[in-house]
Amino acid sequence: MTDLGLGRRRQAEIYVGALSGARHGVPVDPARLEQAARRRISREAFAYIAGGAGLEGTMRANRDAFDRLRIVPRVLRDVSTRDTSLELFGRRLPGPFLLAPIGVLEMAHREADLAVARAAAAKGVPMIFSNQASVPMERCAEAMGASARWFQLYWSTSNDLVESLVGRAEACGCEAIVVTLDTTLLGWRTRDLDLAYLPFLRGKGIAQYTSDPVFRRLVDQADEEPTQRSRPTFAGLSALFQLTRAYPGTFRANIRSPRPRRAVRRFLEIYSRTSLTWEDLPFLRERTKLPILLKGVLHPEDARRAVEAGVEGLVVSNHGGRQIDGGIATVDALSAVVEAVDGKVPILLDSGVRGGADAFKAVALGATAVLIGRPYAYGLAVAGERGVHDVLENFLADFDLTMGLAGCASIDEISAESLAATS
Ligand code: FNR
Repeated sequence: MTDLGLGRRRQAEIYVGALSGARHGVPVDPARLEQAARRRISREAFAYIAGGAGLEGTMRANRDAFDRLRIVPRVLRDVSTRDTSLELFGRRLPGPFLLAPIGVLEMAHREADLAVARAAAAKGVPMIFSNQASVPMERCAEAMGASARWFQLYWSTSNDLVESLVGRAEACGCEAIVVTLDTTLLGWRTRDLDLAYLPFLRGKGIAQYTSDPVFRRLVDQADEEPTQRSRPTFAGLSALFQLTRAYPGTFRANIRSPRPRRAVRRFLEIYSRTSLTWEDLPFLRERTKLPILLKGVLHPEDARRAVEAGVEGLVVSNHGGRQIDGGIATVDALSAVVEAVDGKVPILLDSGVRGGADAFKAVALGATAVLIGRPYAYGLAVAGERGVHDVLENFLADFDLTMGLAGCASIDEISAESLAATS
């Protein structure tokens, strides 16, 4: 049998499968996928995942920038066999995709990161474990077998905690550390503010902390909370209930213990270091042999400096428009970063990637791969592990077909000549 390639195989699965009554899974169209997720989850969860900072201008800019770039196909080139694979840090990936670190996935589905880990492993797509995950990294790593995973770090005010998290990441087989630099403060998230909802206050998205020995020690050292004498309200009790449920251990033990509340308080105090500078990077360098990537780099000078500082990769990202409103689109920032880095380290890109053509455009501008963000969280919300699996299959298929239709038989053949810009 001839190899159809990823794209035709997926098309056949959907079109031919329908003839025997099979359903093809989550919606293929990204807007319909988002709407399907919206129907499945609470309004707080949807706001948290879908929302951006301020007027959400950066989110729109991310999409507009992709839309302005146009692919110019070449014809009469043999594209009967196509190779979408590439090598990154010694691993062969099936396509230019990784799963972006997304925190608090328990808001999308009860299996959260575990479901994502299984789907990622099944497709051989690397998963970047979030520092704000809902499931400790060791459990996800175990579910992934030998498949590739990375760890994303938020640099805490406690260097002991940083060291502990990085040590755990190494021990459970993570192959790179991604330091996210654009979230030293939480952005002005209008949708969450209007709902007055922050998941961490309810004990969600802090599993990497509550499973960490250094963090647990810090919680034990925390000062006693001043006793509050205010009358309990329904909202207060509901928040306490959620926190008690989210915290590791039994509900019975947690409801009597001050630990869950102390852990949240401690987390809020230490989760991020706003004073972080270039001078802090050697601390990390000395504590891990893994490649270090900086996520959230958009300025070419920062890119140049990062390479000088010895980091092994960059992620051009604006956090999906969740941090700064009115920010530059990642695709608009990419070319200057590529030029500054001059091929010395791989450059990844995320924010607004919604289909195979977006990945093609990013690669054409010099990115090695892209991170898939919200779409897989929506797939998770709609159908758990299978939903994430469908989303990955669709991205890989779409990329394969786009590449072939553009006249490229492999990733190496994709270049800036494949693109035209429109205004
Ligand atoms: C994120 N992102 C993120 N990034 C990170 O470094 N650590 C994290 O814990 C999170 N958490 C997170 C939660 C949610 C709900 C979203 C939507 C995003 C940012 C993420 O890694 C990525 O940069 C964006 O998702 C990319 O934008 P799009 O493609 O989702 O628009």
